[in-house]
Amino acid sequence: MNFKQQILGSIFATLMLVGCGSTVSNTRLSDKFDVDAQLDYCAKQSSNALKLIPKDGSIPRSIASNNEQWKFVDYKDWTSGFWPGELWYLYESTGDHKWEVAADKFTNYLAALAVTPAVDHDLGFQVFNSFGNGYRLTNNPEYKEVILKTANNLAKLFNPKVGTILSWPRNVPNMEWPQHNTIMDNMINLELLFWASKNGGDKSLYDMAVSHATVTMKNHFRPDYTSYHVVVYDKETGEKIKGVTHQGYSDSSMWARGQSWAIYGYTMVYRETKDPKFLDFAHKVTRVYLDRLPKDLIPYWDFDDPAIPHAPRDASAAAVVASALLELSTYTKDSALSKEYFDKAEGMLKELSDNYQSKTKNTALLLHSTGHKPANSEIDYSIIYADYYYVEALLRYKKLKEGEQPLLTYKFN
Ligand code: GLY
Repeated sequence: MNFKQQILGSIFATLMLVGCGSTVSNTRLSDKFDVDAQLDYCAKQSSNALKLIPKDGSIPRSIASNNEQWKFVDYKDWTSGFWPGELWYLYESTGDHKWEVAADKFTNYLAALAVTPAVDHDLGFQVFNSFGNGYRLTNNPEYKEVILKTANNLAKLFNPKVGTILSWPRNVPNMEWPQHNTIMDNMINLELLFWASKNGGDKSLYDMAVSHATVTMKNHFRPDYTSYHVVVYDKETGEKIKGVTHQGYSDSSMWARGQSWAIYGYTMVYRETKDPKFLDFAHKVTRVYLDRLPKDLIPYWDFDDPAIPHAPRDASAAAVVASALLELSTYTKDSALSKEYFDKAEGMLKELSDNYQSKTKNTALLLHSTGHKPANSEIDYSIIYADYYYVEALLRYKKLKEGEQPLLTYKFN
């Protein structure tokens, strides 16, 4: 074979590879991303983190840049479920009993949420990531009871006149309290309601979740499918009063994590309902996010911050979207689109693994997330929810590469 034939041969081989990589299977494009090495890294970092946690109910939340000290919270904090959830994922990944013991311990810290009236919409983040993953992996009936009771607590925040859950039942600036507010993040907590409705809870929980997703779809998005962080509603008439931001750059901007909650949320709502309108919507909210990403696939904290490219990044949004895209890639018959989602998710995971891992800087998994920039809080931090979704996405990726469905949850449905 002469040189020209060799070149033509390799172009043909490349085209064949690209062309054949259109199904969700282990024939996917890149073998260069070593997912097992990343999961090993996660286990090693988390082993080291475990040694640093006081035995007084403390749960790790975040670490400032150039620092090694975790900020700890208790079970009441909205982030309290991510660390036990991460430990459950490590148990799932390794099968090592030590992770089950640790996960069980931190999960049980949150048990009081089942018997405390809801003070926030975040109960799904808290209880489904901890007890939900725990129940999925162990079938422990005590976990199930906590999940079902907590779902009922969350349901008490549902306002039937509006058709959504009240996210913040208290006076938050600019939310016109005591009117009704709903935030985009709230979409993720619907998973708790769906699960409960299918596993012994009241069927009305399902209807509330569908109503919340439907009303949010109508009111929470601009014509280009970017989302408002918050919508304020008249609590009596259900009329939309305004769409505003709380954690984003402006009322008209695309806050990266808010959009990531929308992508993950509508993908999950489609999974639970199989209603094609939610799938169509998941594609739309994903499209605008992907089309506006920087080349390295990690968003700035807000897509419209005029300080870009000098604005902080948000690794947490990238991790949430990577995980959601892996799931969404299995819900489309359009093979080119499926492949795009998978390849972008892989690219995000590769970038996070190559350039965002904390390594020796601290015992978290990832650097460079942005918590609440307008409040000057947790900017360029390691934050526990980035780590949780990073491990989840790695596990989903591994399953897809092995030719399995990517879902880790809902084993018992
Ligand atoms: N409020 C939850 C978040 O920061 O995404």
